[in-house]
Amino acid sequence: MIIKWTPDLSVGIEEIDNEHKKWVSLLNDFYQGLMNGKSKEKLTELVLGMLDYTKYHFANEERYMKSINYPDFELHKEKHNEYVAKITEFHEKIVNDKMILSLTVTNFLKTWLINHIKGTDQQYARFANTID
Ligand SMILES: [Fe+2]
Ligand SMILES: [Fe+2]
Repeated sequence: MIIKWTPDLSVGIEEIDNEHKKWVSLLNDFYQGLMNGKSKEKLTELVLGMLDYTKYHFANEERYMKSINYPDFELHKEKHNEYVAKITEFHEKIVNDKMILSLTVTNFLKTWLINHIKGTDQQYARFANTID
């Protein structure tokens, strides 16, 4: 396990926390696959699965932010878009053998996830008063 969901990652909204937990578990699956020496095909499949899930999660989160008239909505959405673009680029590079899935990639994904939840997601949670 490379990452664990801990209460300090909570946004105080059960549905969103559950989606973050799922995201964490998909990242762990990918890490596990990497550690177990799974094939490039299998690993890219895991990356795509994670990308699909984050798109689903981002859409839900954006809907929520709109529903509370969150003032920094656009900025937050931009960060989601940047992530999707980055992972899509990773995927393309891997498929074309221009990049190898490694711990560097895994650490990037992990750091992004944690920084995003703590630095960006928790901002709307504070705005909505669902966390302190
Ligand atoms: Fe977000
Ligand atoms: Fe999120």
